[in-house]
Amino acid sequence: MPITRVCFVCLGNICRSPTAEGVFRHLVAAAEREHEFEIDSAGTAAYHEGERPDRRSLATARARGVDLPGRARQFRRGDFDRFDHVLAMDLDNQRALLRLAPNEAARAKVSLLRSFDPASPSDAEVPDPYYGGPDGFDRVFEICMAACQGLLTRLSPPSEARRDG
Ligand code: 4NP
Repeated sequence: MPITRVCFVCLGNICRSPTAEGVFRHLVAAAEREHEFEIDSAGTAAYHEGERPDRRSLATARARGVDLPGRARQFRRGDFDRFDHVLAMDLDNQRALLRLAPNEAARAKVSLLRSFDPASPSDAEVPDPYYGGPDGFDRVFEICMAACQGLLTRLSPPSEARRDG
């Protein structure tokens, strides 16, 4: 089965996109589908390059049994060659990705993460929690969980029946 490569992208790559990455890894592992995916995250900005996720994101995820691996890095134009799906956390980051994309094929890989949550409007964003209180981090986690569940369903292989038939 071909590998599907997904990258979650926010501004700093220390709060929202590492949370989405960790939640998606967690769901993929629970579904025993690790062999199907390569999963990463990045930021449109380089402010926090090399840093571990924000301690508030780490604590929120850890309290729910989710590890957030990795260190911050900036999303680069060449990442469009590596990934099949580039999931932006908000409209600003989506716009930044679309500006960076070298061609139409790359632009077609970019979508808003929450567009995969059937319960959200298609332009819904993952709000930036950085300057807010702890509630914002809980909310980011719940939003990422709902959207990543939708994403994993959408990226499901054809049913056993179709594969066998
Ligand atoms: P993130 O959150 O984009 O979800 O990682 C932010 C992290 C840092 C900053 C803004 C948002 N900052 O301004 O440094």
